[in-house]
Amino acid sequence: MIEIENLYKAFGSQRVLNGLSLNVKKGETFSILGKSGTGKSVTLKCIVGLLIPDAGDISVDSMRVDVGDRKSLFRIRQMIGFLFQSGALYDSMSVRENLVFNLTRHHRVKHTEARDKAAHYLTLVGLGNFIDRMPSELSGGMRKRAALARALVIEPQILLYDEPTTGLDPITSAEISDLVREMHSKFSITGIVVTHDILCAGIVSDRAGVLKDGVLKYTGTLNELAGIEDEEVKGFFRNPL
Ligand SMILES: Nc1ncnc2c1ncn2[C@@H]1O[C@H](COP(=O)(O)OP(=O)(O)OP(=O)(O)O)[C@@H](O)[C@H]1O
Ligand SMILES: [Mg+2]
Repeated sequence: MIEIENLYKAFGSQRVLNGLSLNVKKGETFSILGKSGTGKSVTLKCIVGLLIPDAGDISVDSMRVDVGDRKSLFRIRQMIGFLFQSGALYDSMSVRENLVFNLTRHHRVKHTEARDKAAHYLTLVGLGNFIDRMPSELSGGMRKRAALARALVIEPQILLYDEPTTGLDPITSAEISDLVREMHSKFSITGIVVTHDILCAGIVSDRAGVLKDGVLKYTGTLNELAGIEDEEVKGFFRNPL
């Protein structure tokens, strides 16, 4: 579903991605672990075409992202939900309006249908009683749930997450991770989750990889990664939060 071959990206003289390759199958969820500044967010931005790679091929559902014309890039973006690292909701809109805006503005859904869908997905993530609240009235965990609902409401085939659990306590973090897992299996979503949170990776992903020196240096199941003799990899497992 997502195929990345030999991806290169530098900013000036700073090489960030150095031949990164990754294949994620339909319905599979892959976690990218890695220290701060290794290029995890850059990788996600290349996949959705927000950044142009210097070299390499990226395909989503067999459509090329990197050389794609505007039409296929539009089609690709229609099938991908993206939870940004900042997870920002629009502060001036209620939670429901945040979802409605996404549907009507970017996905050509009619307003009444969008309102119903928004309520449905907010209920699904456990925010049924909070649909008319403003984001500032929600806790951090609830805001993450709302951001997840906003990504889900477009019924994407693919969801990309940048640090979905950052800033949450371990219990809420596990709840969000469980919710992601549940939604992926319920809707057969293909996912890439960027995270420092090894517990989150363990819950949500089928496989994971460690981004180091511009490539996915180690990939495998979480159990396989746990056995790797590399100080950095061990660090993730030693300090699970
Ligand atoms: N638009 C940009 N222009 C210049 N440099 C950039 C740009 N985007 C990212 N970088 C640089 O690329 C490197 C990788 O950034 P990236 O945001 O992918 O890190 P990350 O792995 O997501 O880190 P973190 O875990 O802290 O979020 C950083 O050194 C960053 O400064
Ligand atoms: Mg990042």
